Amino acid sequence: MSSLPSTMKAVLCDKTGGPEVLRYTEDQPVPKVGESEVLVKNKFGGINYIDTYYRTGLYPAPSWPLTLGQEGVGTVAAVGGSDVHGLKENDEVVYLKQGSYAEYTSVPADRVVKIPSGVSDDTVLGGFLMGMTALTLVKEAYEVKKGDTILVHAAAGGVGLLLGQILKDLGATAIGTASTKEKCDMAKEHGYAHMINYKDIPDWVPEVKKIAPEGVTCVYDSVGKTTWEGSLEAVKRKGSVIYFGNASGPVPPMNIALLSKKNTKIMRATLMQYVVTRDELEYYSNLLFDYLRDGKLKVNIHKIYDLKDVQQAHKDLEGRLTSGKLLIKTT
Ligand SMILES: NC(=O)c1ccc[n+]([C@@H]2O[C@H](COP(=O)([O-])OP(=O)(O)OC[C@H]3O[C@@H](n4cnc5c(N)ncnc54)[C@H](OP(=O)(O)O)[C@@H]3O)[C@@H](O)[C@H]2O)c1
Repeated sequence: MSSLPSTMKAVLCDKTGGPEVLRYTEDQPVPKVGESEVLVKNKFGGINYIDTYYRTGLYPAPSWPLTLGQEGVGTVAAVGGSDVHGLKENDEVVYLKQGSYAEYTSVPADRVVKIPSGVSDDTVLGGFLMGMTALTLVKEAYEVKKGDTILVHAAAGGVGLLLGQILKDLGATAIGTASTKEKCDMAKEHGYAHMINYKDIPDWVPEVKKIAPEGVTCVYDSVGKTTWEGSLEAVKRKGSVIYFGNASGPVPPMNIALLSKKNTKIMRATLMQYVVTRDELEYYSNLLFDYLRDGKLKVNIHKIYDLKDVQQAHKDLEGRLTSGKLLIKTT
């Protein structure tokens, strides 16, 4: 094993609150590598909206203090035992595991995959959690078919820009919503055939109906509180509404009798329940790598922040100032 430092840089959360509860430290102990785990020296950590849910307390923290970050990319610095899916020191890897706002993260080996050749590490991480989310949405939550008309909220966000490209590749017509002209223009460059500025036009459902008079086949709604009802109105008879996030707050308890109006199917989807087994994780990560290698999926990195500046990254994300992926440089 190469020599490891005893302490590292990390950003910790000691309690729930605003971005100010994110505390930068340089003396966090380097995690020990457990049996069937690998210790990854992170190059970049990925920022996802879910990090803000843990910070605010919308999602309960598994323990305190909490190190945020659901995914990272870097080099294997140590391996724990032999049951590590063939991983060895110095392998370049990408993983799903909470705790990537740090220099080192100890990760169960079955959550770690090697980076394929021909794709850069920032692109792989930029597309990893978000791209696999988009792929599970179109393959399993509602299986998109050629000719479908699909509505996606927050189309210029991290997931939104990837989803637009995948929908176009599948032969669907993607309609997106976003809050500024710049975001609408960017989404159009990423696969969306039509964009609606739902800030300028708060009553956006009639705009959707102008494009799809009977309603859309499916809505992918990650905005939640402010869009959930409109999504039910915008979908066609026998259509699907897939809720998968809470950017404006969670969808409130709803009366399922609402669904009988059009025989609407709804679900609340999450990536983590689609990649529970090693086979599932390998299936979706390989599918994503194929998309990235073929150039069918472009990752828009909004900005790479220093670990010290994570508070600002959260402010930018929650302030709706970003388009695409936010990364943290962890070295
Ligand atoms: N279920 C899963 O497994 C899964 C996995 C990944 C992501 N997600 C969800 O997918 C969504 C997108 O994630 P992301 O990381 O790519 O974030 P993002 O889309 O880059 O950022 C969130 C976007 O939501 C929109 N938004 C609308 N109302 C908002 C409000 N009141 N406050 C803040 N933003 C608001 C903003 O776009 P406009 O300014 O254009 O409105 C904002 O840019 C999040 O809800 C996230 O939780 C779910």
